[in-house]
Amino acid sequence: MVRAAWGGPPHRESMTQPELLQHRPFERASRPRLVEAPPRLSMRLWNLDWGATLPWHFDAARVESSSHDEVMAFTREHYAAIFGHASAEGRFLPSPMTEAKRRFLSEMDFFVFRVGRETAGVFMGHPTDWTSYYLRSTAIVPQHRERGLMTRFFERLAEPLRGAGVERIEADCSPANAPIIRVLSGQGYVVTGTTNSERWGLLLRYTKFLRDDARGAFLRQYTAMPIAQRGETETLNTDRSRP
Ligand SMILES: CC(C)(COP(=O)(O)OP(=O)(O)OC[C@H]1O[C@@H](n2cnc3c(N)ncnc32)[C@H](O)[C@@H]1OP(=O)(O)O)[C@@H](O)C(=O)NCCC(=O)NCCS
Repeated sequence: MVRAAWGGPPHRESMTQPELLQHRPFERASRPRLVEAPPRLSMRLWNLDWGATLPWHFDAARVESSSHDEVMAFTREHYAAIFGHASAEGRFLPSPMTEAKRRFLSEMDFFVFRVGRETAGVFMGHPTDWTSYYLRSTAIVPQHRERGLMTRFFERLAEPLRGAGVERIEADCSPANAPIIRVLSGQGYVVTGTTNSERWGLLLRYTKFLRDDARGAFLRQYTAMPIAQRGETETLNTDRSRP
């Protein structure tokens, strides 16, 4: 996956440790020249080349690999309205763009949903460790929702991740966000925790286990109910006596 970028030192993988510490990928060189962008974390950890598997087509929508710049332009235009930032103003600490944030973001995977010439939505994700992938943020503009776009996208996204040896996909979302909860639950994600943060408030942690033994271990140890999802016939916790 090669992206064009202006300026900067030689390719990062060929740098020594002292050179890496000095590396300033976002500073413009005085005489701009075209260089290859460094591979993202998914590629470096798992050799996962999204460019080789995309695009994906869901009816009229086409999902493509995208760039930090394009996805950030979409977030600037749409996120305040979509996520109601104005109504939450003052309740949560803002997270302004800093150099560190920009560098972190540049490690993520970016996808866009296109319908004709329109950008109908975006998705950002990244590894959180060597076996876990995090669904960082996603949104579809209102006029393209409820057509099964996100459902089919998440379904498709899991395949290359599983193929690369990833064991779980994780996501955080507000308990008030009924549509995404519906999508995640329908895709076999289960609630594995909650967090409270000064940045986002109360969030539910959802996990999709890509290995049956991991899912089984979670359900056996942390749930006291038989599995109640469609298509599941297995009953766990039969050793527990319920009053
Ligand atoms: C969440 C989001 C990405 C889903 O995208 P989408 O392409 O519309 O998703 P799908 O069409 O695949 O599925 C939507 C599901 O939510 C359901 N839904 C939609 N609005 C709902 C509501 N108000 N209450 C309950 N369920 C709702 C739909 O019925 C559908 O479920 P079904 O297929 O079982 O009927 C989209 O709603 C969105 O962009 N929301 C704002 C941004 C956001 O919340 N991002 C996630 C942050 S964690």
